[in-house]
Amino acid sequence: MTEIKQHKILLTEDEMPTRWYNVLHDLPTPPPPVLHPGTGEPVGPDDLSGLFPMDLIMQEVSADQYVDIPDEVLDVYRLWRPSPLYRAHRLEKALGTPARIYYKYEGVSPAGSHKPNTAVPQAFYNAKAGIKKLTTETGAGQWGSSLAFACAQFGLDCEVWQVRASYDQKPYRRMMIETFGGKVHPSPSDLTEAGRKILAEHPDSTGSLGIAISEAVEMAAQDPATNYALGSVLNHVLLHQTIIGEEALLQLARAGETADLLVGCTGGGSNFGGLMFPFLREKWAGRMGPAVRAVEPSACPSLTQGTYAYDFGDTAGMTPLMKMHTLGHDFVPDPIHAGGLRYHGMSPLISHLYEEGEIEAVAKPQTECFAAGVLFARTEGIVPAPEPTHAIAAAVDEAVRCRETGEEKVILTALCGHGHLDLPAYDAYLSGRIVDHGWEDPELQAAVAEALGKLPVVT
Ligand SMILES: Cc1ncc(COP(=O)(O)O)c(C=O)c1O
Repeated sequence: MTEIKQHKILLTEDEMPTRWYNVLHDLPTPPPPVLHPGTGEPVGPDDLSGLFPMDLIMQEVSADQYVDIPDEVLDVYRLWRPSPLYRAHRLEKALGTPARIYYKYEGVSPAGSHKPNTAVPQAFYNAKAGIKKLTTETGAGQWGSSLAFACAQFGLDCEVWQVRASYDQKPYRRMMIETFGGKVHPSPSDLTEAGRKILAEHPDSTGSLGIAISEAVEMAAQDPATNYALGSVLNHVLLHQTIIGEEALLQLARAGETADLLVGCTGGGSNFGGLMFPFLREKWAGRMGPAVRAVEPSACPSLTQGTYAYDFGDTAGMTPLMKMHTLGHDFVPDPIHAGGLRYHGMSPLISHLYEEGEIEAVAKPQTECFAAGVLFARTEGIVPAPEPTHAIAAAVDEAVRCRETGEEKVILTALCGHGHLDLPAYDAYLSGRIVDHGWEDPELQAAVAEALGKLPVVT
């Protein structure tokens, strides 16, 4: 008889956590402040009030350990949360590993990724503050479709600047944003000063998240009824994502397991932080001791090759200065298929934890990641978004190491989205049209060196 194995560890809606966890409260050392680009002084709430509602600004700077999730947000979360935790029995078998691999699957959300976890509260707090419209950037389109969905829940208009490379590669995301009621422009566009400047110098620019952020921020800054929403990087975004880790802690405990290794992909750091922060709290409290590993693309290796310095969050230099691992705000990464990982910087919180040795980081070329994604699809039955294939590739590495050493490690990875609308990327991989432009490429190193030469001077 076939042995009955448990594949999914599920929580009921009643068991869904009702608080987000604020890692700032428990950090062993405080992170450096965010600075005003004009004065070089730490920014205050008023400096941010042109772009964000006060509730989110207060979450950005709060040191409270927990923030209650508003009922209106919990109600929308219940459309797909709690999300399932899976044991990857079939992947383990294919790898012949004694390791036990678990994945927390965020692809069950309306947009197909973790992004609605923060889009929903951001739309809620903006609507509560009387804002009528949100602007934003999007790479792969996951964030744009998440925000368009969230705006539809709270009666807000939504306007999205989508990085040109992804706009062309992934037309279905534009259609999804429009279906949710949003408006999409390819970035760089001629609708903004920032976009026109880039187009004048580089008419064929493939765009970048940094450029798209400049465009969305510029539009929001001009209209008091319009605010800007960011899908990653900032403290409040990572705070909202901690619902992932809080659920995963309950689910792993229910499976009778303690994680030895946590792996997640990092673009701006939000799915990674969202899964890891509650586990780090447990680690600092001495209740477990997992290694925590970030995985980034070797074509955009901000943690492993970037400089830890103050830099702008956008290309045009309109945002406050954040101390982070950066490749330079001017750096335009190769148009790799993991569009959500094409960001020049890294969340200040993740950067700080990396600098303090609390987390590790590795960089992976995209062909290796797609190979892991295809293996995952053929064993577990889910086609992962190109971004989390980076985490899967690193989980596979560890599982293969365990096969060699015989260790029965428990590996938990963030499967932060599905790739149903990224199939052209898989098509390109399967037909041999994907090439790697990793750090060993002298052109990449020269482009980063040039961009790092233009870091803002902070006195
Ligand atoms: C599916 C998916 N994963 C990961 C990312 C990277 O963002 P973050 O590092 O904030 O999770 C994105 C960003 O768009 C994404 O769409």
